[in-house]
Amino acid sequence: MTRAAVLAGVGATLPPRVVTNDDLARRLDTSDEWIRTRTGIRQRHVVDPGTATGDLAVQAGRRALESAALTSGQPAGADLLILATTTPDRPCPATAPDVAARLGLGGIPAYDVNAVCTGFLYALAAAEGHIASGLAEQVLVVAADTFSTILDPQDRTTLAVFGDGAGAVLLRAGERGEPGALLDMRLGSDGTRADLITVRAGGSARPLHGADVPDEDRYFSMSGREVFMEAVLKMAGSSRAVLDRVGWDVADLDAVVGHQANLRILHAVAEQLDLPRERLVANIDRVGNTAAASIPLALADAVDSGQLTKGDRVLVTAYGGGATWGAGAFEWPGLAPAAP
Ligand code: UT7
Repeated sequence: MTRAAVLAGVGATLPPRVVTNDDLARRLDTSDEWIRTRTGIRQRHVVDPGTATGDLAVQAGRRALESAALTSGQPAGADLLILATTTPDRPCPATAPDVAARLGLGGIPAYDVNAVCTGFLYALAAAEGHIASGLAEQVLVVAADTFSTILDPQDRTTLAVFGDGAGAVLLRAGERGEPGALLDMRLGSDGTRADLITVRAGGSARPLHGADVPDEDRYFSMSGREVFMEAVLKMAGSSRAVLDRVGWDVADLDAVVGHQANLRILHAVAEQLDLPRERLVANIDRVGNTAAASIPLALADAVDSGQLTKGDRVLVTAYGGGATWGAGAFEWPGLAPAAP
């Protein structure tokens, strides 16, 4: 029997305020038509001032624990919390220990992971390693981002794409043969492409204090077209690598839950893999690109809507800043959605 990390709970949350494409078009040179046809996005959720990434992370984490408790009929806990985020509550310290404390999990190890939009998969792989090595029995993986707090209020391209949100899964120690066991994960990075998706200033290389930093270097920026092409290649490539290692064909897949960056990217990945589009899980129309939160949010949505059911063969894949990318595979274990 091989020890494995098994999905035991899933949850997600969105801030209540909705910003539609028409809302953006009222104050920027854009249109609902441009945004819908270029990205597939109709609306996104955005935090109000005073709500931070950690607040969303606590809600999503709580829902994943509730989902695990409903699924197993036992109270759920965790002995490690990993938070994937690029928009922590503050540069120092990490947000994860605060999230753990607010969830009543104080005392357990808790740390942040920053792999931008691939953050959830990086955190999932780290969690799997902790469980496989016996360092942890139950790991709460939370992915939360509030990109609205780092976007340039004049940048119509990034404002059209990004939204805020959080998603989480609970992993428990189990066996490789069980539904929900993580069967394989492939991750990659290319630091020579760091400039494609970046906030140029505000770190140790270019501190903000005492410096004359132009606004555009304080905000998030993205070379959209190049990122688009790279994202398709790397998501399709890592997906194929995972399928090879797990021994599944594309035809065996019931659902592909890709990072929701752009509906056209998801369609292009499906085309590269020769996957029928109906097997893509897509909630980008309602939530936009929620960065690290995107995959667990889409998983939670697909459970709620009945698109994911027990026994489904699922592939997850993402591409993000760094550059970073990755993919993973599991059979859906049939988890109870957490009460909203
Ligand atoms: O999550 C991490 C990974 N991120 C991604 O994967 C994002 C990948 N990139 C994309 O999704 C797309 O590149 C974008 C949605 C960001 C942009 O779409 P695009 O089709 O690549 O547009 P573009 O940047 O090539 O711009 C085409 C035109 C430009 O005008 P000109 O120069 O042709 O006159 C832009 O200025 O569209 C213009 N444009 C807009 N027009 C109306 C850019 N944003 C907008 C906008 N409304 N919001």
